[in-house]
Amino acid sequence: MVKETYPARVLVTGAAGFIGSHVVDRLLADGCAVWGLDNFDPFYERAIKESNLEAARANARFEFREGDLRDAAFLEELLGEAQPGAVVHLAARAGVRPSIEEPEAYYEINVMGTVRLLDAMRRSGIRTLVFASSSSIYGAITENRPFSEEDVTDKPISPYAATKRAGELLCHSYHQLHGLSCSSLRFFTVYGPRQRPDLAIHKFTRAVARGEAISIYGDGGALRDYTYVEDTVDGVCRSLRRICDPSVGPVFEVFNLGAGRMVSVNALVTLLAKAMGVEPQIERVAAQPGDVPRTWADITKARQTLGYEPRVSIEEGLARFVSWYREVYGIA
Ligand SMILES: NC(=O)c1ccc[n+]([C@@H]2O[C@H](COP(=O)([O-])OP(=O)(O)OC[C@H]3O[C@@H](n4cnc5c(N)ncnc54)[C@H](O)[C@@H]3O)[C@@H](O)[C@H]2O)c1
Repeated sequence: MVKETYPARVLVTGAAGFIGSHVVDRLLADGCAVWGLDNFDPFYERAIKESNLEAARANARFEFREGDLRDAAFLEELLGEAQPGAVVHLAARAGVRPSIEEPEAYYEINVMGTVRLLDAMRRSGIRTLVFASSSSIYGAITENRPFSEEDVTDKPISPYAATKRAGELLCHSYHQLHGLSCSSLRFFTVYGPRQRPDLAIHKFTRAVARGEAISIYGDGGALRDYTYVEDTVDGVCRSLRRICDPSVGPVFEVFNLGAGRMVSVNALVTLLAKAMGVEPQIERVAAQPGDVPRTWADITKARQTLGYEPRVSIEEGLARFVSWYREVYGIA
């Protein structure tokens, strides 16, 4: 089972983002010193990311550096200064649909950025990494079964998914060549307070709050394994503690971090409307290329190896999201 000890200092890339800021807050709460790196990529508003960091910035154990993952000199200096015991690499251009419009930006940030980080870590002698991968790498599986870490993942259907798989493969090569101990975590549709504004739950809530119709792609039958951010973060922290445990040795491991159950988009809208106490207006629009028909995590391996156990039901998670949205935006 996973030990309770963390390295004294952890570097989190993408620290100002949705998941990154929650990881930072949790590591600080668990007593670590945390260094955060983010370049406030313009994919969404800087002000949102600044507010994500508010609590962390008030903590004396938090250091933040604004900079770009692709800048090798910056990375080298940062790693030298921070001397982290491990890196949690969450910085990326996320999102499936925009990757079809801007494949080069996704490649540059997610693939080149990751290789720059891996190589800077190698030069600085830092050998422990948690990498944020994605359920999208499973591609368009339509069989009625959860996705297993053993499944073949060589048929991505979006540039984003391809870059995430490439990141995993790069991490594996650094494990093999340089003894990197790496946990690659396949996140399944993460939601909760601070969720990215481009993601469905946030978009749907915003539409309702503005009195607009919710746009549902296709027939709304697409199935997603929605994971509450607190559960995802718990999985991140467990995998971090595991790879930092000297008795585990250098490993390359892949874990699905999902809730382990599917919810259709139609059912999600019904649950969200209930949490908001409204009757939603719905507009049907064409299905989007790049979107997979379903995601469903087999979490047996994470349960057995990490002691990971998702605890927040979709009803509870949506209620918490809506209450956060009301607090921040004062409406809905
Ligand atoms: N949110 C999800 O449902 C989900 C699902 C699967 C995988 N992921 C992965 O989890 C990670 C975090 O996702 P998120 O939803 O929090 O996204 P996010 O966009 O909120 O966070 C990513 C952060 O990385 C930063 N960043 C981007 N490019 C950078 C660069 N070149 N240098 C430094 N920082 C840079 C951004 O400014 C942002 O703050 C990503 O790697 C994403 O691919 C997320």
